[in-house]
Amino acid sequence: MASYPWQQIGLTADKQASLVVAEMTNDEKFAWLSGPMAIPLNDTPLPPGAIGSAAYYPAIERLGIPAMQQSDASLGVSALGGVRPGDHATALASSLALAASFDPQLAELTGQLVGREAHAKGFNVQLAGGANLIREPRGGRNFEYLSEDPLLTGIMAGHSIRGIQSQHVVSTIKHFAVNAQETGRVVANAQLSESAMRQSDLLAFELAIEIGEPGSVMPGYNLVNGEWASENAFLLNHVLKGNWRYPGWVMSDWGATHSAVKAVRAGLDVQSGANLDTERWFDSPLRQALEQGEITQTHIDGMVHRILRSLFACGAIQHPARRGIPLDYSEHTLIAQREAEAGIVLLKNDAQTLPLPAELSHILVVGAHADYGVLAGGGSSAVTPQESLQLEGINFMGIDTPKVYHPSSPLAAIKRNGLAKQVSYHSGDSLEETVATARKSDVVIIFAEQWRSEALDAQGLALSEQQNVLIETLCTVHTKVIVVLETGGAVTLPWLAKVPAVLQAWYPGSGGGEAIAGVLFGRVNPSGRLPITFPADEQQLPLPDQIDPNSTTSLPGIPVKGEIFTLDYDIEGADVGYRWFERSRQKPLFPFGFGLSYTQFTYHDLTLFEENGHIYATLTVTNSGERVGSDVVQIYIRPEQGQYPARLAAFRKVNLAPGESQRISLKLEPRVIARWESEQQQWQIAAGEYQIYQATDASTPVLTDRLWLTARHFTY
Ligand code: BGC
Repeated sequence: MASYPWQQIGLTADKQASLVVAEMTNDEKFAWLSGPMAIPLNDTPLPPGAIGSAAYYPAIERLGIPAMQQSDASLGVSALGGVRPGDHATALASSLALAASFDPQLAELTGQLVGREAHAKGFNVQLAGGANLIREPRGGRNFEYLSEDPLLTGIMAGHSIRGIQSQHVVSTIKHFAVNAQETGRVVANAQLSESAMRQSDLLAFELAIEIGEPGSVMPGYNLVNGEWASENAFLLNHVLKGNWRYPGWVMSDWGATHSAVKAVRAGLDVQSGANLDTERWFDSPLRQALEQGEITQTHIDGMVHRILRSLFACGAIQHPARRGIPLDYSEHTLIAQREAEAGIVLLKNDAQTLPLPAELSHILVVGAHADYGVLAGGGSSAVTPQESLQLEGINFMGIDTPKVYHPSSPLAAIKRNGLAKQVSYHSGDSLEETVATARKSDVVIIFAEQWRSEALDAQGLALSEQQNVLIETLCTVHTKVIVVLETGGAVTLPWLAKVPAVLQAWYPGSGGGEAIAGVLFGRVNPSGRLPITFPADEQQLPLPDQIDPNSTTSLPGIPVKGEIFTLDYDIEGADVGYRWFERSRQKPLFPFGFGLSYTQFTYHDLTLFEENGHIYATLTVTNSGERVGSDVVQIYIRPEQGQYPARLAAFRKVNLAPGESQRISLKLEPRVIARWESEQQQWQIAAGEYQIYQATDASTPVLTDRLWLTARHFTY
């Protein structure tokens, strides 16, 4: 076996990268600075050596450096990731479900699953780590993102990334930053003050990067305060590489590069999906800029160094991914199921409608192809396990994006989990037939769905008229109507008062059917909590009026000059989601953090204290009901002086047997308590009295206390 200088024992990733860069020719370096989307697309053929996925950069064999094979991403190895007919991948539940678990260990476990599958399929970079704050509840990609809260998003994204990278696969974090909607995604200019951004969207990234140390950061398609994210010197050089001393590389989104010199000087290291751009900026134009001295060799070497450093840091070069390693997918399906179970949120359960008794005579299951499987979100993140049902979806960037149902049938699982004599299924297309069967059934379980996809925002928050009519009608003939939602975000529920039980199952992935049935019959005690607010209607939103998703381009690679429009996020500023609802004194349909259980929890003895400059909340939580269950202890902080509405400052998931109590201590995140002062470029905690309270959701405080904090500031 050849031995390479970087193989010496005890070298840091930086040293290893330097040794390789020193040996590389400029052609080799440039081959890593831009690449096409590595699938045959229009007149771009499949690059030789590429598996056929989002990106490929050739091996440098003489230096022992493997090719970079990049695929999507957070929810499993995606369809674009070389999953061919006959190949398979596990579909995780959507990121919203993961966040709803409020369980960082679970995020790590599911991240490991993604990393393991990627590695066994020959990929060494996963375009994962969606960490955008959900500012726009109608956003088409909300199912790929975690939550509206920076602390929850940062912690969950960080652990997921850490899990992926533990498998010798680099994970990105994306889409940096303030990339909250798909409508006009390449021309939308997110306007948000620095102070608000640091306390919200950037804080989520900052925490996730600290925890997960992702090898790469992907800026979004959008503009931020007038500059495209991919050439935004404030975001890339000042904040990311400056304040946060980020050592990895910055890769553009696919077809999101707009310049050579400007982008490099702003901090972009790689032009991804270059065939979707108007020019291959990081090839000839950059070489020319180098010759003319506009860009220096130090720039180029630094860019390549950052890539290699990240690959070395997670072992992607030392433990190369190889395609075709056999995997135990059944174990992975169980992990996906566990994730879905932990993320299902019980929204309503009047008169203990749920869990269902095992023995019922006749159950009617309706809608959303529940006889076949569970819905998945569309776009680059979509995972298509074997035997998925694929219906017509949309086409973007010249690529067909089908509407996929993962093959995990709720109907079959309901039959398995219960002992009902008869379980029937109706699509719901014929109202008359469905009503007739409903009359003969003990219980009616309606699956309601809303499909979301990359490149396409939801038009409003309503379910389809047909589904709402179906639910309303069934409620007129039956008292036991249970609705299971499979949606990629918040939806409105106009029939809520008439339905005794509602479950939010998100897009629950490869183990989704079994997870839903487990909750329905009580094998699983629901413990998910909403990671997003459910508004009562669109009028409650900071930007109630939506630009028609079909009216403006969402696609990269289309000349965009002159079409830029501004999204004024300064309206809510850092007060995203539940914070906005408190500030504007509006009552949502369901608040952030909300979720019911089949048991009850009680809370006692909240104590607040400071130790070594950190603030802690200690309390006792008791399972005072009759079933084993998990609770999410949530601690919020609000300054008495009203500088900002309440913010989630700490959380912990605890599992308790009936009658069991646990005393837990939670450390509050100081950056959540502070405000960012742009003039001084520092975090500042104002002196004063703060309410610190434990709550069962953002609107329902239970134990409250106060603490006087002295003024303090900190920086990077
Ligand atoms: C998406 C990215 C994705 C990339 C490669 C883009 O359209 O915005 O999230 O990683 O494609 O598939």
